[in-house]
Amino acid sequence: MFWDVHSHVVPSGDDGAGTLEEGLELCRSAAAHGTSVLFATPHVWPHLGLSSEREERIRAAHAELAAQVAADGLDLRLGFELTPAPSLLEDELGRYRLGDLSAVLMELPFAGPLALAERVAEEIEGAGLVPVLAHPERAEAVIDEPGRARAFAERGWLLQVNATSVLGYHGESPEETGWLLLEQGLVSLVASDGHRPARPPFLDDAYEAVRRRLGEGADALFNGSALRTLEITGRSGNAAAAGAVRRG
Ligand SMILES: [Fe+2]
Repeated sequence: MFWDVHSHVVPSGDDGAGTLEEGLELCRSAAAHGTSVLFATPHVWPHLGLSSEREERIRAAHAELAAQVAADGLDLRLGFELTPAPSLLEDELGRYRLGDLSAVLMELPFAGPLALAERVAEEIEGAGLVPVLAHPERAEAVIDEPGRARAFAERGWLLQVNATSVLGYHGESPEETGWLLLEQGLVSLVASDGHRPARPPFLDDAYEAVRRRLGEGADALFNGSALRTLEITGRSGNAAAAGAVRRG
């Protein structure tokens, strides 16, 4: 069963699911395609931040959806997907954690330099959390120089490649770069980044493709192996996380 760390199935005012009904449909179809743990990761954009009102609405929508899809065997968790912005350097990054994981999802920009993303990732790390870098294979800076992604992976930051990239839906360059990173063993996670019925939160086809090329090594990229070690459990874990957030 798959763990999918990146999706937009909870309505949040961004470009993901528009309604609870649409979100429910996406969640149920994800479960039918083999996903057992799905993180909803609403966008936190420079022009659409996480105000307390927006956060409240998102958390309520998530709670309602999670209760409904539990019967489908789906564990729906909530995180966020940060787009690098200077304001994040002053923010308490612990509020964006992926569920109970000591990790934060941040996308690499599609265009332009990676310097700000790197600084935000360093802030995440400074808060005692692990940066999960979304779709590096779609970033021009990585396509031009894949060594940039290697340097991030060597810092212990987790690279998350999109299922849609390895299947070729984002064009040739992201596909080639995605496979390059996979074959070099730099990728920790493949996720759907599913947004809507036309771009659904499915991992099964990508799993088959990666397994054909990488063999059994594919399994760890889809079964949440890299995330399970980041689960914060029990009181001591929560205290550690709270301390980490304060330090941030
Ligand atoms: Fe996303």
